[in-house]
Amino acid sequence: MTDLATGPVRDGVLALSADELQALQLERLQWSVRHAWENVPFSRLAFQRAGVHPDDIRTLADVAKLPFTTKADLREYYPFGMFAVPMAEVRRIHASSGTTGRPTVVGYTQTDLDNWADLVARSLSAAGVRAGWKVHNAYGYGLFTGGLGAHAGIERLGATVIPMSGGQTAKQVQLIHDFEPDAIMCTPTYLLTIADALEEAGIDPRSTSLKVGILGAEPWTNELRHQIEQRLDIDAVDIYGLSEVMGPGVAMEAAATKDGPHIWEDHFLPEIIDPETGVPVPDGEPGELVFTSLTKQAFPVIRYRTRDLTRLLPGTAYPAMRRMEKITGRDDDMIILRGVNLFPTQIEEIALGIETLTPHFILELTRQGHLDALTVRIERHPDIDRANAVAAAEVLKLRIKTSIGTSVGVQVEEPGALPRSEGKYKRLYDLR
Ligand code: DLL
Repeated sequence: MTDLATGPVRDGVLALSADELQALQLERLQWSVRHAWENVPFSRLAFQRAGVHPDDIRTLADVAKLPFTTKADLREYYPFGMFAVPMAEVRRIHASSGTTGRPTVVGYTQTDLDNWADLVARSLSAAGVRAGWKVHNAYGYGLFTGGLGAHAGIERLGATVIPMSGGQTAKQVQLIHDFEPDAIMCTPTYLLTIADALEEAGIDPRSTSLKVGILGAEPWTNELRHQIEQRLDIDAVDIYGLSEVMGPGVAMEAAATKDGPHIWEDHFLPEIIDPETGVPVPDGEPGELVFTSLTKQAFPVIRYRTRDLTRLLPGTAYPAMRRMEKITGRDDDMIILRGVNLFPTQIEEIALGIETLTPHFILELTRQGHLDALTVRIERHPDIDRANAVAAAEVLKLRIKTSIGTSVGVQVEEPGALPRSEGKYKRLYDLR
């Protein structure tokens, strides 16, 4: 398949018809379910409790007969109890930090690492990155899958990786200036930090060599995309993934369409379920994203509940692969304020519609009497005086009230007053 905006795509699988892809998925699903049954005691027990056997998986829809896997299950089998191959075949381990208690530990065989590198290379290709380009990788290296996952994919594509990792923002600025990378990989909020630092160093963020940003690991809106694209004169595209399912590159948005990440369905079977009942909903309906891995050897996951909220849409740039709508939030980021549900991304969307405000904001939840209150603390734009910013804050308050249906407080902060992102940005502070 040749994509006009991104050039030739290297993967034959992207040329499959939807029927051919589904046939491949079914064959791989049957393998994966049997692999988990035979090698992961947790899975066998869970299947037996649910009264299902690998032989019962005859169609893709039969996946719904299988029990879910949750993060709590992974924690219970900490550290290596979910691995499906002997430890001697595990070539790498990653872990997600986890806000409370034990981290979630995942493992990869050499084949798993090869598939992962291929999928990140495919993702980069979809983003318009080419062999021979220099890619500045500012995802954190270490147990987090972002740094090393992106790294291997950049090399696999035949591009040059600049393994900067996260943090040391002044150094990031220097390397972007001196090494002249074509593309950057980091979280969208960290790219804002870098843009500020470029300006502070007297470098116009629009003047750098960067052409593309491959941004993800946290929810971000199309409004933030536009702002980043304007501010840095780049294409900003969305990369999605999670360590339990692989890492970055489970799904990737095409630069040609910028209409939400395509899920690499030859390796991951997605479903959307009603988070309350666990019942699958049809494509197009919103709900919780669930993945079953189709090829993973060391750490197969069967119906893993991501807690990410989205919907499945038909493929566009890659017609056989479905897309997911840009993630609005995780069910654990949802704020329930006096009976109204809201996500930080909704505030981002509204705030960025007001020019005099910046994308630098945090949310504070407090208790006033026996009612919860939410305060948006947002920085004014450095070129706007305080009186105008306070007027803009009133507009923000009003728009939040009319579009979300709840009253919040808005407090204007001075430029640079709020903490800056160094990776996944913490927006919500629960002070109750
Ligand atoms: O964040 C993997 C990754 C690294 C993805 C680099 C993209 C780029 P975890 O630390 O396990 O893995 O966190 C996974 O982050 O369930 C989502 O809630 C969120 N997330 C990841 N990508 C996106 C995205 C990595 N593009 C969790 N949009 C996921 C919104 C995202 N949320």
